[in-house]
Amino acid sequence: MTSSPRRPDGGRLDPTGAPTPPGGESTPDRGYLLDNARTEAGERFAWLAELFDGVTRTHVERLGIGAGSRCWEVGAGGRSIPAALAAAVGPTGYVLATDIDVSWLAEGDGYEVRRHDVAADPPPEPGTFDLVHARLVLIHLPDRARALATMAAALRPGGWLLVEDADTALQPLACLDAVGPAQLRANRMRAAVRELLTRRGADLRFGRTLPRVLRAAGLVDVAAAGSFPVGGLACDRLEAATLRHVRGELLAAGLADEAEIDAHLAAIDAGELDLTLAPLISAWGRRPA
Ligand SMILES: C[S@@+](CC[C@H](N)C(=O)[O-])C[C@H]1O[C@@H](n2cnc3c(N)ncnc32)[C@H](O)[C@@H]1O
Repeated sequence: MTSSPRRPDGGRLDPTGAPTPPGGESTPDRGYLLDNARTEAGERFAWLAELFDGVTRTHVERLGIGAGSRCWEVGAGGRSIPAALAAAVGPTGYVLATDIDVSWLAEGDGYEVRRHDVAADPPPEPGTFDLVHARLVLIHLPDRARALATMAAALRPGGWLLVEDADTALQPLACLDAVGPAQLRANRMRAAVRELLTRRGADLRFGRTLPRVLRAAGLVDVAAAGSFPVGGLACDRLEAATLRHVRGELLAAGLADEAEIDAHLAAIDAGELDLTLAPLISAWGRRPA
């Protein structure tokens, strides 16, 4: 179990106590692009929660997760889903929240926190969970097949795997209504971020494959649904946090220049872009009893 202390300014202290640069500018040019070391990661978790926690909670309830259930939240990121699961399972249940970087999770909120790499580490407590859930995690992992096998192996017979991932190739636009230069620029910026993600090994067509890959993992009663928001403050704030997070990478890769990024951030602040996201595909399947 690990967690990294946070500085009052939101920066992170590494395990030796040495401060990371303000804003964590030391992002490596490989691995997970939107790493949790940046303060923008916390903003992104808050807006992702606003946009998608309702979707996730609806699926979790429908799958029968309640008092006494055992849940594993994979790549938890922020606190909201582990806390919601802890509230659902109550004192007789158990929630484990894992991530490669657990800085944004809080031990003592009714769930256990562990550092765990789902693409490399063995399943914790194999064969014991009623629910294993990952949202917006597998899409980023080059070895997502191994991660899926690890999550499936953690299920008890009859337990549910719920995987939610974007399919950004299905709906690649930031602005559906590309009515003027600001909207066209927003769509160019979104394409540039997609290019960065692809270079880090993300599969931007992964969402559509989920029913097939869950069946291939040996699960039964597989089904899926999709949803995406159009417009609103949460879409705007998520976009701005993402842009600020990857600004350095966009510039270094020559995918955007300073003026274009600043103009896009200003247009977001003006609140007239009606930004949207890629569909979130939620897919679920059960380990045979
Ligand atoms: C886009 S965020 C999504 C966070 C959260 N699940 C949500 O939906 O708000 C992706 C999360 O996956 C984590 N992650 C990336 N690679 C991982 C790995 N190999 N094993 C476990 N977690 C990983 C990241 O650290 C980050 O917290």
